[in-house]
Amino acid sequence: MGKVLKVSAETFTDFGKGKKYFIRTYGCQMNERDSETLAGILVAMGYRRAARMEEADLIIFNTCCVRETAERKIYGRLNALRPLKKRRPDLLIGVGGCMAQKDKERVLAKAPHVDFVFGTHNIQELPELIGRAAAQAEPVVQVWEEGQASLLDLPAQREGKLKAYVTITYGCTNFCTYCIVPYVRGKEQSRPLQDIINEVTQLAREGYKEVTLLGQNVNTYGRDLERGVSFARLLREVNQVEGIQRIRYTTSHPRDFSEEIIEAVRDCDKVCEHFHLPIQAGSNRVLERMNRGYTREDYLELVDRIREEVPNNSITTDIIVGFPGEEEEDFAATLDIVRRVRFDNAFTFVFSPRSGTPAANMKDQVPEEVKKERLNRLMELQDRISKEINEELRGREVEVLVEGTSQKEGRFLTGRTRTNKLVLFPGAEELMGQLVTVRITRPQTWNLYGELV
Ligand code: SAH
Ligand code: SF4
Ligand code: F3S
Repeated sequence: MGKVLKVSAETFTDFGKGKKYFIRTYGCQMNERDSETLAGILVAMGYRRAARMEEADLIIFNTCCVRETAERKIYGRLNALRPLKKRRPDLLIGVGGCMAQKDKERVLAKAPHVDFVFGTHNIQELPELIGRAAAQAEPVVQVWEEGQASLLDLPAQREGKLKAYVTITYGCTNFCTYCIVPYVRGKEQSRPLQDIINEVTQLAREGYKEVTLLGQNVNTYGRDLERGVSFARLLREVNQVEGIQRIRYTTSHPRDFSEEIIEAVRDCDKVCEHFHLPIQAGSNRVLERMNRGYTREDYLELVDRIREEVPNNSITTDIIVGFPGEEEEDFAATLDIVRRVRFDNAFTFVFSPRSGTPAANMKDQVPEEVKKERLNRLMELQDRISKEINEELRGREVEVLVEGTSQKEGRFLTGRTRTNKLVLFPGAEELMGQLVTVRITRPQTWNLYGELV
């Protein structure tokens, strides 16, 4: 366990007075939430947010390394900062997050104009790192192997006024054989239940209407806490918080989605009927080699139970194609389960070997062209299904939380259904933040167009 640093008022220097920051975030919602904390610390140091990167005195990249494509993009963008840094040597550039945690030396080798690199457990040290980076010529590197740092209460500058992320677990201890997350985020740790309730209560007081409970595997929340604390209980308690209208959570692990959780979702009026259940593959042989801990039969049974208990739901998923050893027959099993379940939507990925994970060293890696070809077939099938499912909503009335506006094709309000589908409809901006009823007039594969009822 790394040291735990207390963040106190004097840690926040006035260093940022009169200066501006810009944060660019890659990866998942946990990273988005971390960026809100980075911003919170910077504001406490006196920084203001820059509207554009070019105006900033401090640029931070909060990075992701889950797939190689993510890393390549980040290195490209970092490289593009070179001329800016050359023109303005006082500009500070920092790289944090999962890629920094994994490859601190590589970041500095590939991007020597970076001033500081910090790991996922070092967020609370930001003021000190910035101070040191400004004072010395050599880059500052601070990456702890482990830590509880993120369990501390740190200030946050939240991105929205209506919807907020609330972290419930940090890290992951599942070690799916393809996945780098457990190596860069540390072991799974649950936040105390009362801290979460306090945070949600405070958010409700500030006018937030929706919370998304975050963790790599929210279903095992509480496993490391006192007896009786579980994800199901957490849902029931968050459901009691006055003022909050919608509760979402991500990500669920199909292995740990218990009957108790289904019942909690069914019973809690604020918990939305959207289930994001990453299946990853439809072949039992592949699922086993992925160390996912369930079979396709288990998964189908879970879907049946959910559809029985919680009607009018949506189910979405993540799928990886081209896992090492995936034969055409295994891929056919993935297509088959996609047809059987009929997901509302699927996030589909080509397997990307991550060095240090077991799958990267497995023999029988699938050739790149085969992976791409399978991905295309899968996406084609899923798009058709998404479109068919949305088509069933034509003429139906849905509840939408009005969240924003879209300038596309004239003026539309935007919002999501309880099932997490994006709806666009004409209306007055005063409706922002309200729950309204919309009749779907024009369903599409990704979005639904409608009109206010
Ligand atoms: N904790 C979440 C997912 C985190 S990563 C869960 O267990 O569902 C998000 C998605 O990225 C995963 O669901 C998986 O589909 C995909 N992914 C993770 N590692 C990958 C890799 N090495 N190659 C391709 N896709 C990967
Ligand atoms: Fe990665 Fe598996 Fe953990 Fe998800 S559950 S973060 S896929 S190891
Ligand atoms: Fe990426 Fe880290 Fe999230 S690797 S997906 S940002 S936990």
